[in-house]
Amino acid sequence: MKKTLIYAHRGASKLAPENTMPAYQLASESGADGIEIDVQLTKDRIPVLIHDENVRRTTNGTGFVQEYTLDYIKKLDAGSWFSTKFSDCSIVTLEEFLCWFKFKPMVLNVELKTNVIEYKEIENIVYEALAKHRMLNRTVISSFNLNSITRMHEINPNVQTAFLTSTKRQNLAKFAKENGSTSLHVKYRLLDKKLLKNCRRNDMSLRVYTINRPSYMEKCFNLGCDGIFTDVPHEAVEYRKKFQK
Ligand code: G3P
Ligand code: MG
Repeated sequence: MKKTLIYAHRGASKLAPENTMPAYQLASESGADGIEIDVQLTKDRIPVLIHDENVRRTTNGTGFVQEYTLDYIKKLDAGSWFSTKFSDCSIVTLEEFLCWFKFKPMVLNVELKTNVIEYKEIENIVYEALAKHRMLNRTVISSFNLNSITRMHEINPNVQTAFLTSTKRQNLAKFAKENGSTSLHVKYRLLDKKLLKNCRRNDMSLRVYTINRPSYMEKCFNLGCDGIFTDVPHEAVEYRKKFQK
């Protein structure tokens, strides 16, 4: 059985503010195989790493990412909400992240946050950034919005893509594949043997989110899922040793 890859979800987001450089740095030190990042676009169409469309929850600002230029976004404090220790953290651009990440021996999952706002051209912008840094061969691009997956597949049919979903449906693996997806990223409650079998039959990878509990990790490792997304990569790396050599 192949090892289940461990992706640090928004970085090591239990230990440091999500989607910030300290969270990514801790992820790389944790022994995780990969990092998952969330991408939104600023008003001046710069890809930035933040989970929510609105900056309110994870910064000292308020309002939508798409209403602000990068200049403004960069001035926000993206760490104090988590702990005053991180008050010097700012929102990271995709460019800054890739300049750092490309030297790490890790895989990447870029999640396009297009399920609420369909940022125009985000697929092209992100694709160009990944291509420029020669990251395409170790990156999977995912989205809850199937249009983003289809567009990415049209830009380059060889790019690895993943349809993200928390909704059960008949023949999910086949459906995702027909829409240009090479893998499925599903919420834990959708995971069962049958889904994994269907993924295998359709030559699709299966990765599962968000896996923080040991009992959830155990199920993913025992079934042999291709990957998990976890806020506690350091714990997952230790726990995996019990189940997979
Ligand atoms: O990519 C897996 C997971 O990140 C999807 O959900 O809301 O945490 O971005 P969310
Ligand atoms: Mg995400």
